Amino acid sequence: MKKFVIACVMAVLPMTAGAAGGGVPLDHIDVDLTNQPSLQRGMKTFVNNCMGCHSAQYQRYERAAQDLGMPNELVEQNLILGDQKIGEQMTISMDAKDAASWFGAPPPDLTLEARLRGPDWIYTYLRSFYQDESRPWGVNNAVFPDVGMPNVLEYMQGIQVNSCTPEELKHGREVTIDPLTNERMGQCLTVLKDTGELTPAEFDQAMYDLVNFMAYIGEPSKLDSQRIGTKVLIFLFLFFFVAFALKKEYWKDVH
Ligand code: HEC
Repeated sequence: MKKFVIACVMAVLPMTAGAAGGGVPLDHIDVDLTNQPSLQRGMKTFVNNCMGCHSAQYQRYERAAQDLGMPNELVEQNLILGDQKIGEQMTISMDAKDAASWFGAPPPDLTLEARLRGPDWIYTYLRSFYQDESRPWGVNNAVFPDVGMPNVLEYMQGIQVNSCTPEELKHGREVTIDPLTNERMGQCLTVLKDTGELTPAEFDQAMYDLVNFMAYIGEPSKLDSQRIGTKVLIFLFLFFFVAFALKKEYWKDVH
């Protein structure tokens, strides 16, 4: 029995390790795939801001339209920017080789990114760009040091400045948290040098919606599985009574 318990613990442990972010404290979010308005807003942000460089080639527009409760025409008119059709995958025309020479690394396909890195990682990453003149795009990232991606969200967020040493940035700085000053990322990326179009709270919400959408494209069948799972459980519950009554019927003459 003891061995069995140890084996169970060993089997579960690696699952908790996947969410680590290289030492940087990650902000936690609860993904909610039933929140259609959030997913719709997330898709809009994704199409408008990310698909210049990143594809989501395993996701079809039509499937997203269906799952997110949007009419096909609406998606065609507003969320398909090129001359693609609703039945096509969310690909882009940027050449991976060109992109690699422009950015140092090609922007990866993002369909499975939320499964690879975890929603917390992406949520923190997108909110952790800060000014760094030594980098080619003038920005660095606390979660992904020396990243090749420019901060395409600067117009929404504004410019963040890092007030920590590199070591503190890596592990977070120990200070008491003041909820009024909107301190974030281990209290390092605090100052908004130039404010963007959104307030910090609105920006966080926009990033939540975006990551929610990215979690959806990583596992578009998850909602179906949950729905079917509930039905199966209800069926098993009801079937228990039928099976029990049948068992009673069979055994009634034996005793
Ligand atoms: C101007 C081009 C460009 C745009 C637009 C862009 N990215 Fe990127 N992104 C990159 C590049 C280049 C990399 C690879 C960086 C590297 O490996 O150093 C990258 C990397 C990433 C990564 C990390 C991938 C990994 O290694 O796991 C994530 C996550 C990401 N981008 C998300 C986004 C999201 C979300 C948006 C939209 C808000 C976006 N990107 C918009 C160029 C872009």
